[in-house]
Amino acid sequence: MRIEFFRHALDERDIESAVETLRSVFLTTGPACGRFEEGFAAYTGLTHCVSLNSCTAALHLALLALGIGPGDEVITTSMTFIASATSVLHTGATPVLVDVDPDTGLIDPKAVEAAITSRTRAILPVHLYGVMADMRALRVIADKHHLAIVEDAAHCIEASRDGVRPGELGDAACYSFYATKNLTCGEGGAVCTNRADIASQVLLLRQHGMSKEAAKRYHGLYQHWDMVELGWKYNLSDIQAALMVHQLKRLDDLWEQRRAIYDMYAQALADIPSLRLPALRGKSALHLFTVQVPADKRDDLLAYLGQNEIGVAVNYRAIHTLTWFRKHLGCKPEDFPNALAFGQGTLSLPFHTRITGQEIAYVAEMLRTHLTSVF
Ligand SMILES: Cc1ncc(COP(=O)(O)O)c(C=O)c1O
Repeated sequence: MRIEFFRHALDERDIESAVETLRSVFLTTGPACGRFEEGFAAYTGLTHCVSLNSCTAALHLALLALGIGPGDEVITTSMTFIASATSVLHTGATPVLVDVDPDTGLIDPKAVEAAITSRTRAILPVHLYGVMADMRALRVIADKHHLAIVEDAAHCIEASRDGVRPGELGDAACYSFYATKNLTCGEGGAVCTNRADIASQVLLLRQHGMSKEAAKRYHGLYQHWDMVELGWKYNLSDIQAALMVHQLKRLDDLWEQRRAIYDMYAQALADIPSLRLPALRGKSALHLFTVQVPADKRDDLLAYLGQNEIGVAVNYRAIHTLTWFRKHLGCKPEDFPNALAFGQGTLSLPFHTRITGQEIAYVAEMLRTHLTSVF
């Protein structure tokens, strides 16, 4: 029995919707993207949504829309996927990594404040595994130092914490619709924001800085377009957007299903003394189910679970330990001890709506066997 790390929850309606688009005239960014953007903005409670082809693109364009570029610094966390930092690098600015809370793996607001310099322009918190960073504390710091906040909400559509949701206190929230995300179309992303200026700049930059996108150019009589900025090719296709228009309506239901699975896992793993779960804060979007195990056993455990047909992943090894960051930013492993330890002990288990109680029991049994044996 193979237990997949992730299985998507696309249903016949989603597939039919993509097929309808395939049978229509328009395949690129058009009416389906428009319908999706409207629905997703409504779901997030934010005024504007601009769809893109990845969250990496969303982070990049949100930072550019804020005018961030060479000479600027953006503070982010080391406990994240590399895109949180590479998006900053792509603007020409410098990512300044900081340490995390050892219980949650979330960016530590005190570490953020300590890292502020005269060059700091923005904070880029990551809502790790679906749990929101402390946005209230970060907003206070940002206001005190006149900084923008771009939220990496790749893991975090459905969450709230201390009465706020992603994008509510930040200038923009960036989402991912990558293959394993809570809402997926294979590859995709979006910037959501209450700021009209950010939304219009992202819209312009997502398609070469052209004054008219294809849907507008070919609607009715041909219209000339101009290039008014140097932009990128980051737009989402209608085929992909179509997969998410109905899926969006099931988000809360899918979240409820993952919550039941989260509870089953938590119960099944409760009696393993050397294993702990990262602490939750507020309502988690429940994107990944990760556990913390002793660092010296983690890699053997990964191999053991893999050999027993259980799909596993590591989210993440602290990015300051990766070659590029050591080489180009001069990072040393000991710079951020909490992120280092968190990354050395973290392991992600299969977590999706199609996993069964029997499969969860099997995964728990394999973990217990390995962690309680003397290897
Ligand atoms: C925390 C985080 N930020 C950003 C990204 C980048 O998302 P995308 O693959 O849509 O560019 C990911 C992707 O997995 C992620 O996990």
